[in-house]
Amino acid sequence: MSNNTNRRSFIGFSFAAVAAAGAVPMLIGMKKAWDPLPSVLAGGFTEVDLTTLKPGNPATVEWRGKPVFVLKKTAEMESSDRDLIVGEDRFTVAIGLCTHLGCIPAWKKTAWKCACHGGQFDASGKQTFGPPPRPLDLPEFGLKGNILVLGETGPEYKKLMTAKV
Ligand code: FES
Repeated sequence: MSNNTNRRSFIGFSFAAVAAAGAVPMLIGMKKAWDPLPSVLAGGFTEVDLTTLKPGNPATVEWRGKPVFVLKKTAEMESSDRDLIVGEDRFTVAIGLCTHLGCIPAWKKTAWKCACHGGQFDASGKQTFGPPPRPLDLPEFGLKGNILVLGETGPEYKKLMTAKV
């Protein structure tokens, strides 16, 4: 083999190595581009382990860019047709946006109070004071055992949709 052929082979191998090395980050970049964005994933389904909730202390989770309140009711809290019953426990699940003009009400021991115009919602999400025209809205959800899956449309959700608060 001549010196020229060796040089050409060397240049050819070097080029292939550089091309291969460049392909890896390119493939990683392409995969990143194809994978759903974290915001899209967060926008689909949100799971809440109901066993982690303390009675009377609602969790606020994000689902499709909205706050959702999940409250495990205490024994003293009034029951409602819109309670989600899981085993012995009753839960309120509601979109955490005031039904007046969309502010986020804050939990104050036994009720959600809206700072914008003084609206108030009880532990079942029912409007009890001020301008809100209706109860807090229900998010779509399903149940997998003790896991609440926001974004599904389970039979429990359909049942609560027809209930009165
Ligand atoms: S937005 Fe809540 S009372 Fe007006």
